[in-house]
Amino acid sequence: MEKQEGHDEAVVLITGCSTGGIGHALARAFAAKGCRVVATARSRRSMEDLEHDHRLFLQELDVQSDESVRTAVEAVVGKFGRIDVLVNNAGLQCVGPLAELPLSQMQNTFDTNVFGCMRMVQAVVPYMATRKQGKIVNIGSAAALASGPWSGTYTASKAAMHALTDTLRLELGHLGIDVVNVVPGAITSNIANSALANYNRMPEWKLFKPFEAAIRARASLSQGSNSTPSEEFAKYTVEAVLRKNPPAWFSYGGYSTFLAIMYHLPLFLRDFILKKWLKC
Ligand SMILES: NC(=O)c1ccc[n+]([C@@H]2O[C@H](COP(=O)([O-])OP(=O)(O)OC[C@H]3O[C@@H](n4cnc5c(N)ncnc54)[C@H](OP(=O)(O)O)[C@@H]3O)[C@@H](O)[C@H]2O)c1
Repeated sequence: MEKQEGHDEAVVLITGCSTGGIGHALARAFAAKGCRVVATARSRRSMEDLEHDHRLFLQELDVQSDESVRTAVEAVVGKFGRIDVLVNNAGLQCVGPLAELPLSQMQNTFDTNVFGCMRMVQAVVPYMATRKQGKIVNIGSAAALASGPWSGTYTASKAAMHALTDTLRLELGHLGIDVVNVVPGAITSNIANSALANYNRMPEWKLFKPFEAAIRARASLSQGSNSTPSEEFAKYTVEAVLRKNPPAWFSYGGYSTFLAIMYHLPLFLRDFILKKWLKC
């Protein structure tokens, strides 16, 4: 079967579309391009402002649950007959020093950011493979280009996702499925609020108590004056994804150039900068 040319009416399934976040902006940006968008979130209440937008089909979906993923994917295929684009956007930040962070926190982060993404991939690929076409878009993070202190769990989960995405691109290419690794810099969203709410439930640090302020500040690092508005990021991303031949990888947003440079620096220099910047 020939690869799809135009993407008007493409059926796009996006995870993690709560109001104020990147998924929400992506849902509106895909809809603005004429796509049929299935916006999903753990709870419909968190995206209720989309309820009356006739361009969008809302569906509850928790990426940590096999049953929720299966039910949602079957509902989309039942309604539209196909999924053209899957956007794995749902994700969690997690801050805390690795030597003291509860392992349950690390597991929860990986269950969402890594295994949640793979659960979606495994549920959707069979439908794409049957039609020999489709696009999988994984939202990684520029933070993974220079893993620094206090957010090691998050950056490790995103680095894992980058690696999995590279493999998926090679393995799924012969099934007619394009795989795109989107690597956002700092983008306005709710990520810091969610991370801080979670952080407030963590135990008191022992060895790392003197770094408490720096650790807490790391949760909000992406939400400063350098942040790119989520609408701008979404518009750029949607244009790239809807190309006939989408890029395998792109990075966009606040700090993305800085972090790309950091990636190439000698380790002693990168460590020096990260220690100064993040008060380690
Ligand atoms: N903002 C940035 O600067 C930035 C930079 C690099 C990468 N990213 C990535 O961009 C993606 C979107 O994050 P964001 O910045 O827009 O943060 P956000 O506003 O907090 O959005 C995250 C979304 O993921 C959802 N989610 C969390 N756990 C889930 C689960 N188990 N199942 C389904 N959905 C779940 C959240 O739902 P609830 O509302 O129910 O919690 C929310 O809808 C993430 O993968 C993040 O790592 C963000």
